[in-house]
Amino acid sequence: MTPQKTAPAPAEPDTVPDDDVVLRLEDLVVEFRAGNGATVHAVSGISLEVRRGETLGLVGESGCGKSTTGRAIMQLPRPTSGSVVFEGRDLATMSGEELRRVRPKLQMIFQDPISSLNPRRRIPDIVGDPLVVWGRGDQRAKVVPEVLEAVGLDPAQVADRRPHQFSGGQCQRVSIARALVLDPEVLICDEPVSALDVSVQAQILNLLEDMKARYGLTLLFIAHDLGVVRNISDRVAVMYLGRICELGETRALFDTPVHPYTRLLVSSIPSMQDVADLEQVDRGGGEMPSPMDPPSGCRFRTRCPLATERCADETPLMREVLPGRFTACHHPILDHAGLDHTGEDVGANAADEHTALPPDGRPGKEDA
Ligand SMILES: Nc1ncnc2c1ncn2[C@@H]1O[C@H](COP(=O)(O)OP(=O)(O)OP(=O)(O)O)[C@@H](O)[C@H]1O
Ligand code: SF4
Ligand SMILES: [Mg+2]
Repeated sequence: MTPQKTAPAPAEPDTVPDDDVVLRLEDLVVEFRAGNGATVHAVSGISLEVRRGETLGLVGESGCGKSTTGRAIMQLPRPTSGSVVFEGRDLATMSGEELRRVRPKLQMIFQDPISSLNPRRRIPDIVGDPLVVWGRGDQRAKVVPEVLEAVGLDPAQVADRRPHQFSGGQCQRVSIARALVLDPEVLICDEPVSALDVSVQAQILNLLEDMKARYGLTLLFIAHDLGVVRNISDRVAVMYLGRICELGETRALFDTPVHPYTRLLVSSIPSMQDVADLEQVDRGGGEMPSPMDPPSGCRFRTRCPLATERCADETPLMREVLPGRFTACHHPILDHAGLDHTGEDVGANAADEHTALPPDGRPGKEDA
């Protein structure tokens, strides 16, 4: 059996002043008990900073732990271990009452707007209920119409309507209004446009951008659709099987992905990369392993053509490989930057070590 070194991923190095960081995840772990007694390693040591006023995209394929991360930030449920530091205080160690006081500042909207709204309630009640729950019911008459107008709904027209009388896009406007009514600082958007038609998607993305500017929000935008994430995010974090594998400014990350998995994702957008790249990279048959039995070391190694023995033995830690670019990979793809994987400038053609496949052309061996 291959010994596994399980050093936790360190927090993103201190590149921005503390005041500019609104939310900091430190070695966040979320595990679930499966029915057969097995453990689902849904989130395994994520460290991430969300800067005040930015839109941070969180992207990765289905089941990689995006929603679990979003819910763990909200403490729904509380994480297994690790910290969620919001405005300097760790939510994970707060009492129920302390958490209740902080919660209005962190709001979440979900993928399926229709099922996330109570079908029996009228729209103004749905939007105003959070004010009542948080003891601010006296503000309803003033705040609810304001917020409805802000999201493009006419308060008079929706006064007697219920969710089933609206389209998916309109219901998502209601969800956004409900999230905004408490004047949050951070909005976690979990696949907010995935269930909508493409034309409506653009309207909702524009609305989120408008609301962000108007209410001074910070957005954590979760999606599996890279095109959507690229359009809305200032920075992007790429997630694979419970861990962050790359983080950086959106444009630079899409132009020059340094983690093999990011490269796979980017090349699956046909307009951005040649398909040969995709075929080259995804050698493991395209299946993400089970989070109940993740590979040792680097969790991407069973699909990665650059995998070496080290990748099976040692968990790669997040480190800055280009200015503002962090990746968790022992052999990042830095040829386009003219750098080798140590960060030393070696010229554009001297990247053999990290672009070559292992001698047998196969990924590192599985943990027995
Ligand atoms: N309550 C739960 N109990 C057991 N396993 C869970 C639970 N919630 C999530 N999981 C598992 O944790 C892993 C991560 O799930 P999660 O919903 O966070 O993924 P995701 O990235 O949001 O996927 P998608 O893009 O499909 O929404 C999955 O394997 C999922 O089955
Ligand atoms: S080169 Fe190794 S560490 Fe990097 S992604 Fe591939 S398997 Fe993981
Ligand atoms: Mg999800």
